[in-house]
Amino acid sequence: MRVIAITGKGGTGKTAIAAMLIRSLVSKKMTILAVDADPDTNLPEALGDTVEETVGDQREFMLRERDNLPPDVDKERMLESKIYSILAERHGYDLLVMGRPDGPGCYCYTNNLLRGIMDRIVKNYDLTIIDTAAGLEHLSRRIIRDVDELIVVTDGSKRGLQTAQRIRELVDEIGLNISHMHVILNKVTPQNRDRLIELVKQLELDLVGMVPYDEDLASLDLEGISLMELPENSLAQVEIDKIIMKLGM
Ligand SMILES: Nc1ncnc2c1ncn2[C@@H]1O[C@H](COP(=O)(O)OP(=O)(O)OP(=O)(O)O)[C@@H](O)[C@H]1O
Ligand SMILES: [Mg+2]
Repeated sequence: MRVIAITGKGGTGKTAIAAMLIRSLVSKKMTILAVDADPDTNLPEALGDTVEETVGDQREFMLRERDNLPPDVDKERMLESKIYSILAERHGYDLLVMGRPDGPGCYCYTNNLLRGIMDRIVKNYDLTIIDTAAGLEHLSRRIIRDVDELIVVTDGSKRGLQTAQRIRELVDEIGLNISHMHVILNKVTPQNRDRLIELVKQLELDLVGMVPYDEDLASLDLEGISLMELPENSLAQVEIDKIIMKLGM
């Protein structure tokens, strides 16, 4: 059981990196759970997939029905079986979409249930990859509590790197249980490469890979075509494979 969460500033390439990691890892002999924790829900599309129902929908259902259910119904069991029923089984991985963020109501009750449920679900897999929304909000709600590796994706902007630094501070502040934090530089070009490496060193971030700016990837995304169609020898995918080796996956 290994849990990897992918985070970083908006638009840096979190979803693209998550999709390419999953794409390469499905050929390995391991069970994989892909979690889309971005309320905007982009990971299924990047994987060439669609998902109808989300964890958020089930949570809303429980919140609505909680008082109508007979007292002897085990609510946690019920929510758990609902979550299993929306877990999409795909070729080489299972996919779970978290969906909408909390609305104005009180979600403490269902979020507490969800925490226990997610802990158990994650234990069923060798590897869980979580694509998150920009920022650490969802992690701070701690629906998924134990993350082995946090991968911060940053692009060729100073702000992206500053976000990485802020995330590191936030992890300490809110006491998240994260064992390692790595950085992936994405959309790297020959022009920004050296400067970016310098900045990463200055900030003492643990650089695990540099994914080049890839025209093939950009044009697939522009047309809304899944990244599963990316040629195996494309610049970005080749680097992702190196990162997988480096992380010992
Ligand atoms: N290595 C790359 N080369 C070229 N384009 C890239 C690369 N990585 C990502 N992109 C492009 O950058 C844009 C943002 O990528 P993506 O949606 O993966 O970012 P994100 O961090 O998940 O964004 P959000 O914060 O909105 O979830 C997309 O148009 C994508 O095609
Ligand atoms: Mg995204």
